Amino acid sequence: MAATVYAVANQKGGVGKTTTALHVAAAMAELGRAVLVVDLDPQACLTFSLGYDPDEMSPSFNDTVVGRAKLVDTIVQHGEIDVAPANIDLAGAEVTLLSRTGREYLLRGELVELLDSYDAVFIDCAPSLGVLTINGLTAADELLIPVQCETLSHRGVSQLLETVGDVRRLTNRALRVRGLIATMFDPRPRHTREVLRDLLSRYELPLIGPPVRKSIRFAESPSVGVSMIGTGSDVPGTAAYRSIARELAGLPADEGLLAAAGWSPEQRDRVVGPSAEDRAATDGASGG
Ligand SMILES: Nc1ncnc2c1ncn2[C@@H]1O[C@H](COP(=O)(O)OP(=O)(O)OP(=O)(O)O)[C@@H](O)[C@H]1O
Ligand SMILES: [Mg+2]
Repeated sequence: MAATVYAVANQKGGVGKTTTALHVAAAMAELGRAVLVVDLDPQACLTFSLGYDPDEMSPSFNDTVVGRAKLVDTIVQHGEIDVAPANIDLAGAEVTLLSRTGREYLLRGELVELLDSYDAVFIDCAPSLGVLTINGLTAADELLIPVQCETLSHRGVSQLLETVGDVRRLTNRALRVRGLIATMFDPRPRHTREVLRDLLSRYELPLIGPPVRKSIRFAESPSVGVSMIGTGSDVPGTAAYRSIARELAGLPADEGLLAAAGWSPEQRDRVVGPSAEDRAATDGASGG
């Protein structure tokens, strides 16, 4: 095993980073993969949403930052996934980090010894481009960018991609932008589809899996990781996260899951337009 490390980042707040990190991680674990999730946000929403009191998580990543604990010693087992929790002290730790040599590499260094224990590591980044997020991007093989398809979504993405450019130049040449994950997606307004099309073509990025439909169940079902069953597993959004996990795991697409996610070929056509292969096939058929 040598884990693929995914940073889940977008400095825009509330776009579904934490929900995505958790659900993709849980879906990956369902596929039998060994998964670690790292909460790199001082708000500790991921830690909290798994039912932990961030104030009682000791040691946590903050202790790693100040050199009191190894990351491996902070890990708790939560059902099928492992979690490296955060708490509010991480905000202070961020300040401590600023005065450190090699501050961008702390997480990367801590993960090195864990890579053989996992298939996938998901880093839930904070809504900022601060030193903690740079740690996430420096430690990552691939960046997953959750986006909500709203008018100004592209501004956040463009800023994030500039940061990716800096990270590639300075701390992690191998960082690859894997693609966008469309979150809280409502396919009905024409506008949403147009925003998604625009994002994908403007930045020449692939869409990972189907868009994740909006559903109140996500807010209601925080204890993901024990199992996705009983945690909104029958809503289209969960099927989308399962499809995304399959794609990241390199497994073939499951048509049943895609349909359950509301991502029929017609829907796909309406949202992102026909794929290059579809177009080639059509051109071939009509062009003779
Ligand atoms: N598909 C969805 N449908 C409905 N609500 C959702 C969906 N995905 C996420 N949410 C809700 O949207 C809110 C923001 O999601 P989340 O916390 O995952 O975003 P975030 O990007 O991690 O936020 P932050 O920037 O504060 O870290 C949460 O209340 C979450 O439950
Ligand atoms: Mg979050």
